[in-house]
Amino acid sequence: MIPIIPLVCVAYFILYAFARSIPVPQRTAQILLSGAYHELAADFGPQLSLDAWIERQEKQSLANLLDNVAPGGKNTKNAAPGTVIASPSQSHPDYYSQWIRDAGITLSTLVNFYQQNSSSVLSTSTIVPILESYAKLSTKIQQTPNPSGDFSDLSGLGEPKFMVDGTPFTGNWGRPQRDGPALRALTLMAYLRTYNASHPALWTSSGADNNPFADLYDGALPAHSVVKADLEYVAKYWSAPGFDLWEEVQGLHFFTAMVQLRALREGAHLASAFNDPGAARWYHAQADALSELTQTFWSNEKGHLVETLDSSRSGLDCGLLLGAIHGSNEEDVSASPFPPYSDEVLSSLLALVKDQRYRFPVNAVPTPPSTDDFDKLAGTGVGRYPEDIYDGYGTSPAGGNPWFLCTSSVSEILFRTSTHLQQTRSLKFGLRGVAFWQALLPKMDVQADREYGADSEEFKAALQRLKSAGDSFLAVVRTHTSGDGSMSEQFDRVTGFERGATHLTWSYGAFLQAIEARKRA
Ligand code: NOJ
Ligand code: NOJ
Repeated sequence: MIPIIPLVCVAYFILYAFARSIPVPQRTAQILLSGAYHELAADFGPQLSLDAWIERQEKQSLANLLDNVAPGGKNTKNAAPGTVIASPSQSHPDYYSQWIRDAGITLSTLVNFYQQNSSSVLSTSTIVPILESYAKLSTKIQQTPNPSGDFSDLSGLGEPKFMVDGTPFTGNWGRPQRDGPALRALTLMAYLRTYNASHPALWTSSGADNNPFADLYDGALPAHSVVKADLEYVAKYWSAPGFDLWEEVQGLHFFTAMVQLRALREGAHLASAFNDPGAARWYHAQADALSELTQTFWSNEKGHLVETLDSSRSGLDCGLLLGAIHGSNEEDVSASPFPPYSDEVLSSLLALVKDQRYRFPVNAVPTPPSTDDFDKLAGTGVGRYPEDIYDGYGTSPAGGNPWFLCTSSVSEILFRTSTHLQQTRSLKFGLRGVAFWQALLPKMDVQADREYGADSEEFKAALQRLKSAGDSFLAVVRTHTSGDGSMSEQFDRVTGFERGATHLTWSYGAFLQAIEARKRA
């Protein structure tokens, strides 16, 4: 008798092998397969523990993110090397462009991987070539005249997006957006620091006539190096209004101010290291003034930060969380006026989560439960801001939806808060933070302006709850992620199905960052 089962297996294997021979970029395959083909997109099912799912989803998210980055990404046809496409979606909606913001944020995630292991194959054969091309392409894009302006007065650096071949986008758009140059500078500065740390001779030899990083930073004015031009842009234009990170309203914005402030502070350090003391003083002076402005984003009346000054909106916004995340350097968090663990950020997080929980049916909390047991920080899908009406394809009277990247950013804030507690071995907050800590620890009656040391019950409970609350938001991300690990921009407020631009690069980046923060916590 013919052994039918082995035959079927062999046939299946041949078919599988054939399907697999359809070109998958090699590095994607490397990351995903690590030896075993059946790991590919298999089994993200509910039987996996959260830890096991995270481990798989981390690999898949990195592979999917790299698919959207040139050189090498399989979704980057016709894209200039160094381009990060926002999403492969070319219509309904068309996201096949390079946004300066999305690219800066995405590549900062790659710099983190590089920092962790600068000699890994991923770093040397994929990340470094990407960052080198990104620096070159950025120089070209900076000098390309566009609808926001040109290079002579640096106004052109405020242009929010370019075509994938690096040419300008000339349609109507919310422009300028002044967060882009700051984010790009932050990513390139982190790259430069990391590169230098693995080639220690370089930094010390960077004298005036021997600067190996001259294409990145050179004190000469008018600026021609990419980071210097971005820093000059930020120093010159931070007080001028522009469009917000969601590209909709003009004004002064928390997210934009926070990333600009961080760029100026780090820029001042870099300038000193490159023998450019005048610039260091100038960037610090601008940073001091901007730092004062950031204080005005707190509303005593509302009890939370507001994303845009003088706006008719509530001000609750996922941009507040992203501003705290991207506006503070993890090695020197105290340099930021509103780090992730600050009272102001945590109380804003609580208020945003509360709003979003009842706004979206998919979060399935029909009436506000009145019991004290109710976990006010239980995982919930979180969108951009309460008044949002962008549904991923156009505007919709039904309103917006939860976003993957915003839901992940809640986790990241909670994990980074946990790290801060562990580093300082103490839990301490003021009146502005009391609402958050009481919501996190409803049974403990914690009070403002007291210190709970590392041995206290309160401190231990806080660590445990930050972890479980952070995980509960990741569990929401998991629920709405497709079986093959792909993430779009949004998930439907009613059905929970993915909506909007498919494979949104930023969704993967935000998830990876949250996972990184979880590991550290
Ligand atoms: C596309 C923008 O990128 C998005 O942020 C905005 O909400 C919609 N257009 C609607 O204006
Ligand atoms: C719309 C978002 O509002 C904006 O922040 C983003 O830059 C673009 N989509 C591209 O992802």
